[in-house]
Amino acid sequence: MAKEENEEKVNEDSEYKDIKDLPGVGSAIASKLKSVGYMDIISLATANALEVAEVCDIGEPTAKKIIGEAREASKMNFLSGLEFQDRRRQVQRISTGSQAFDILLGGGVETQAITECYGEFGSGKSQLAFQLAVNVQLPNDKGGLEGHAIWIDTEGTFRPARIEQLAAAKNLDPREVLQNIKIGRAYSSEHQVLLVDKIPELVNKDPKIKLIVVDSMMALFRAEYVGRGTLADRQQKVNVILHNLQRLADRYNLAIYITNQVMARPDQLFGDPTAPVGGHIVGHVATYRVYLRKSKKNNRVAKLVDSPSMPEGEVMFELTAEGIKDCEEEKKK
Ligand code: GTP
Ligand code: MG
Repeated sequence: MAKEENEEKVNEDSEYKDIKDLPGVGSAIASKLKSVGYMDIISLATANALEVAEVCDIGEPTAKKIIGEAREASKMNFLSGLEFQDRRRQVQRISTGSQAFDILLGGGVETQAITECYGEFGSGKSQLAFQLAVNVQLPNDKGGLEGHAIWIDTEGTFRPARIEQLAAAKNLDPREVLQNIKIGRAYSSEHQVLLVDKIPELVNKDPKIKLIVVDSMMALFRAEYVGRGTLADRQQKVNVILHNLQRLADRYNLAIYITNQVMARPDQLFGDPTAPVGGHIVGHVATYRVYLRKSKKNNRVAKLVDSPSMPEGEVMFELTAEGIKDCEEEKKK
């Protein structure tokens, strides 16, 4: 893989000044902006003026001016079609452990993209996260990227023992595999934002990081915003995180996997019975959206709902003690 080449591109793209260098922004305003996720000039360039005004305790016209400066400084880089193609060529894939599932996704979970799995409790969202955190460490010819992972755990469901079990099943050294996963436990949505903001620092220290897991993306936001008439506010914060994640994916050529618990709606007569309760909060940003549901025994069905290039489709796979595998039913096809 042309790694140097990739890094060169990265630097070229991130040649922006710090937000505190923008006219009208000092370090005080910069740190307020950073505390809500505006870490760099690009994120500020696409910010909402009202939110910036509120966060920084400044007037809206001033906020607009700052955003204007950010837009100017970022120049909203365009890539030529060839540069774009070049970047797409660098896309790499992490195997899910099931060949059928990989094919559904066009070869596995992609770098430079956000892959979201949504489904009800026990549908296998976290199991896929464990599997990817192990598989990313496999050699290329075994479906991995010889990479490391970052895991943001918002529900306290990260299980080192499960990682060890999956690693052993792949003939990897379980302790080494655990060592290569950095876990950040988020206790509030604000904390989740801060942990995501920490990622560039971690990736700069360890360029082998190729996967970021957020399990789950929405749990803390759902809990904190329950019954409060602030859905737009929640949406805005979620969007900031998602856009920051997408930027990380592009900039460092890494894969983002996020989970989202939803309740199935078997009672729904019209429309999509798999539509998540609370709407597609994540949906508009995630590149690949996969709906997971339970089937017989340990089988699970993955349905590709949204993807830029792959057709919609469904496959079945199995959750086993050794991890995700193709199930007998799918092998017969
Ligand atoms: P929520 O987080 O509750 O929304 O669910 P989830 O979609 O994350 O479910 P998860 O991925 O935790 O899947 C749970 C299922 O995985 C269980 O019902 C088991 O079938 C299977 N599973 C979980 N842990 C193990 C394990 O250690 N061994 C085996 N064999 N199966 C497991
Ligand atoms: Mg889970």
